[in-house]
Amino acid sequence: MVSRRDFITKTALATAATAFSPLLSSAFAAENQFTPNQPEMPEVEFEQMKAGYRLPNKSGMGGVAAGNAFHINTNEQINEAMQAAWNAGVRYFDTSPFYGYGLSERRMGHFLFNKNRNEYVLSTKVGRVFEPEPNFKENPNDIWKGKLNFKFKYDYSAAGVRRSVEDSLLRLGLSSIDIVFIHDLSPDNGDMKENWTEYFQQAQKGAMPELTKMREEGIIKAWGLGVNRIEPILKTLEVAEPTIMLSATQYSLMYHQDALSRLFPACEKKDVSLVIGAPLNAGFLAGKDRYNYGNTIPEGYLQKRNRMSAIAQNHKVDLRTAALQFSAAPAIVTSVIPGASNPKQSADNAASFKTRIPADFWKELKKEKLIAANAPEPKLS
Ligand SMILES: NC(=O)c1ccc[n+]([C@@H]2O[C@H](COP(=O)([O-])OP(=O)(O)OC[C@H]3O[C@@H](n4cnc5c(N)ncnc54)[C@H](OP(=O)(O)O)[C@@H]3O)[C@@H](O)[C@H]2O)c1
Repeated sequence: MVSRRDFITKTALATAATAFSPLLSSAFAAENQFTPNQPEMPEVEFEQMKAGYRLPNKSGMGGVAAGNAFHINTNEQINEAMQAAWNAGVRYFDTSPFYGYGLSERRMGHFLFNKNRNEYVLSTKVGRVFEPEPNFKENPNDIWKGKLNFKFKYDYSAAGVRRSVEDSLLRLGLSSIDIVFIHDLSPDNGDMKENWTEYFQQAQKGAMPELTKMREEGIIKAWGLGVNRIEPILKTLEVAEPTIMLSATQYSLMYHQDALSRLFPACEKKDVSLVIGAPLNAGFLAGKDRYNYGNTIPEGYLQKRNRMSAIAQNHKVDLRTAALQFSAAPAIVTSVIPGASNPKQSADNAASFKTRIPADFWKELKKEKLIAANAPEPKLS
């Protein structure tokens, strides 16, 4: 019988050939291990960090919408959204067991099933383990819509991480995962609030060393945290050896000063690269009337969006495109992963990384103090 441990070790065989040390990642990029059918139009030139783990390009795709966030999306919609992203050259996809309690992983894995494993990078997350819930009842206040059929408990132990990765592989139907993020270990997690530090202690003893071990074994290529606050990332940089972090909601056109002041310098010091999640603040910067994942839009944010939209219009710039390029501009950012619930959205988002934006647009946003004066701009606007 194959033990859990044996099962997961087998994934190392698949990844070992392409595994690389974070220190070798520039060489990795140079060797062009990814062979995307590069679309005719290249990305706008963005600054890139010299060391650290780098993703194939700045334009990636997130899997929250694939978990039926905010509304139900069909399998076809999500498959077509991924296909449109793929056609546009997107080769990095992020998901989580939490997104629709497995639905996002099932859908993303289904799309990637027949793709050449060396052609894309996949991240998923750990920290929750799931079991069947035959009496599952839909909760209208839940972000995930439709049937879920599972319940979860938090588990940031070493064994919990191994179990979670194995479960993810089975849901994905794939033989390996490239990046693992420790998910929602953060004070904004409503299940934890101020107790998040207790979960953090469990992760510090369990998940973190275990993921370092899995990286050394070649089972995964990189790990970090996937969180919506800065503190857990700063704390992890002090006590463990992550190579990449997913920071969501903290570096967007709307809200970014804290990341510039505290997050970027701390990551730069350790050559830890950043993936930017929720670059549209969960749709707000694409015109949706919701901000991030709560029920309220912070005071003044609608007015701020209106002012930025007016300036964008004057410069013939699409605000969503500006938002995606803003998040992609810093060298420390290796990829930005907008979510999309249909193919038009994902195609438009990928196109946004290839669109020229006049330098005067950024100048005016800075002059009007709508964005931070020290926020990097795309290299060639
Ligand atoms: N803690 C974490 O690790 C964490 C937290 C948050 C996010 N993330 C990652 O970051 C990814 C991105 O975040 P997100 O998907 O929540 O939010 P987002 O990228 O800021 O916004 C995505 C939503 O905006 C709307 N949208 C996107 N492109 C559009 C377009 N071209 N035109 C019109 N509307 C558009 C869609 O809303 P509708 O579907 O309603 O149309 C879409 O679902 C996630 O998918 C996930 O992979 C990670």
